[in-house]
Amino acid sequence: MINNDTMIDRGMWSHAVASPHSDIAIRRISEEEGLPLRDIGLAPAPSKPPPAFGYAVELFHLGLFANEALVSVGTFILEDLPSADASTYSVKQNHWRLRGMATLPDHRGKGYASAVLDRGIWEIVFRQGRLLWFNGRSAAAQFYRARGFRQIGHERIIPGLQPHFRFSMDLSDKLLAMEERKR
Ligand SMILES: CC(C)(COP(=O)(O)OP(=O)(O)OC[C@H]1O[C@@H](n2cnc3c(N)ncnc32)[C@H](O)[C@@H]1OP(=O)(O)O)[C@@H](O)C(=O)NCCC(=O)NCCS
Repeated sequence: MINNDTMIDRGMWSHAVASPHSDIAIRRISEEEGLPLRDIGLAPAPSKPPPAFGYAVELFHLGLFANEALVSVGTFILEDLPSADASTYSVKQNHWRLRGMATLPDHRGKGYASAVLDRGIWEIVFRQGRLLWFNGRSAAAQFYRARGFRQIGHERIIPGLQPHFRFSMDLSDKLLAMEERKR
């Protein structure tokens, strides 16, 4: 596993966080650490108790702290984008999946989730990831579209789940840029 301290090149996808009076830091967190925020941020959908992603062979959780308080989270899982006719878990293509993205209601609109996403994408590219995908709530679809994610297919209405779209972002240009910067 990559340690946060080994990460370099932070400027590649840095996002300006609009909070000049806060001390902002994005750090690796445990799933348990992020759970109280997910309970609030993802309501009315219930959070799954840890380990919610026991199937994953590789994953990391990121948290954004404003003045040492955890205010935004996202989980990134090594998981291939399923093909139309298969839904089984596989890790052959070095795709990553975003899950559980949430910011506390009082802290929204300050660029925090965007910064968590940027940092997650950076780390995925560092791990040679080629694509990031996820099922994004319809209510947050505009947030994802504005951040360059491509919608795949139509809105999905599935009993027991929030209405959502599937989104993806091809990371090959970022991977190439990182390789070029290494030379
Ligand atoms: C979606 C969410 C994570 C965004 O968090 P955030 O920290 O407020 O996001 P940022 O501040 O980085 O980005 C805010 C931008 O997205 C837009 N945005 C955020 N949430 C939005 C929403 N639900 N619908 C439309 N636009 C939204 C804001 O208008 C703002 O746009 P701007 O960059 O043009 O100013 C947050 O609204 C949230 O936790 N929502 C509830 C849980 C949820 O839906 N999670 C996604 C599950 S797939």
